[in-house]
Amino acid sequence: MFKATAHGALSKAELYRDVTASLGGLIEGEPDALANLANASALLSGALAGINWCGFYLLRGEELVLGPFQGKPACVRIALGKGVCGTAAARRQTVVVPDVLAFPGHIACDEASRSEIVVPILVDGALVGVLDVDAPEKERFDDADRAGLEAFVAALTPRVDWASL
Ligand code: SME
Repeated sequence: MFKATAHGALSKAELYRDVTASLGGLIEGEPDALANLANASALLSGALAGINWCGFYLLRGEELVLGPFQGKPACVRIALGKGVCGTAAARRQTVVVPDVLAFPGHIACDEASRSEIVVPILVDGALVGVLDVDAPEKERFDDADRAGLEAFVAALTPRVDWASL
């Protein structure tokens, strides 16, 4: 049976395909990494229903530092292994948290956040940062979001000059 989604008639897979295609047009040919990450966060934030924070943390030495984002002001520095972002970064694996209150060590930047997904960004196997998306509802993110956001990051990664950040 057809199930309506928060995105209208689009399935999550279709939505992520569209938004990843739009990303190419938005940043193609633009060498400025900071501008491209800023636009990538704005694009995702506008496309995803039911989220309250979306953006990047960038690896600086042994910690993650806040990068371009959309949402309320957030904590600036996160050590590797700490919080959801630091856990995804340390594991080099996407972490989906259905209920942030049940995640030991979750770092509450926006108290409204109830669920979260963090996708690590790797260049030739080396960590350069993470993409973090938060939602005010529990269980907002599922395997379709994981696949869609990993595809978004995979499309973004080769188009950004990470070394210039
Ligand atoms: N909740 C994250 C911190 C970043 S904010 O959500 C923007 C964490 O636990 O790592």
